[in-house]
Amino acid sequence: MTFRIAPSILSADFARLGEEVRAVQQAGADLVHFDVMDNHYVPNLTMGPLVCAALKPLVQVPIDVHLMVRPVDRIVPDFAKAGASIISFHPEASEHVDRTIALIRECGCRPGLVLNPATPLAVLDHTLEKLDLVLLMSVNPGFGGQQFIASVLPKITAVRKRIAASGRDIWLEVDGGVKAENIAEIARAGADTFVAGSAIFGAKDYAATIRDMRARLAVL
Ligand code: DX5
Ligand code: ZN
Repeated sequence: MTFRIAPSILSADFARLGEEVRAVQQAGADLVHFDVMDNHYVPNLTMGPLVCAALKPLVQVPIDVHLMVRPVDRIVPDFAKAGASIISFHPEASEHVDRTIALIRECGCRPGLVLNPATPLAVLDHTLEKLDLVLLMSVNPGFGGQQFIASVLPKITAVRKRIAASGRDIWLEVDGGVKAENIAEIARAGADTFVAGSAIFGAKDYAATIRDMRARLAVL
């Protein structure tokens, strides 16, 4: 199993965003997780394609764009042009989920579907075979620094089973409240990609924190 650590720059120092993005890559980030919030689908407002495009020249790893916006389709091509590798969205925010998945693919990006803690797995019934990533929220979206919702653990296992049955290489990412102390448990449940915002950017030493996370994954 390949494990990936995706620091969420939502918890970075926005006054020094370029430096922060460089530092977290130097510290061993596999992806840069980019949280887009619109004060409409979620009650917070963050960054748009302009910020993504400005950071792109500094980023050597894939940019993992997590859209928490409604509508979704209007903004997808803008993020593709801004340098996104993966674009994930919430099915509740799209009028036509299949169309949005196809649009992300047509724009040259890898599509991901995001399930909130209360979103049933049924949304994967006619979509999984078209996805490259499933992102399971382990907090309700909108803010960094929230508590991991443990009832998501069996859901991770259920999605891992579905991915295995599909026979496709679909990444299973978990987002919200992930830290060194619980990363092994989340991996054991079936996740392979871990978003961590406050756990990394809230630490003094980013590299030591990512090393600690990897060490706990290495013994599984
Ligand atoms: C929440 C965002 C997360 C957030 C995670 O809506 O999608 O990516 O940054 O932050 P932590 O790791 O602090 O829970
Ligand atoms: Zn996110």
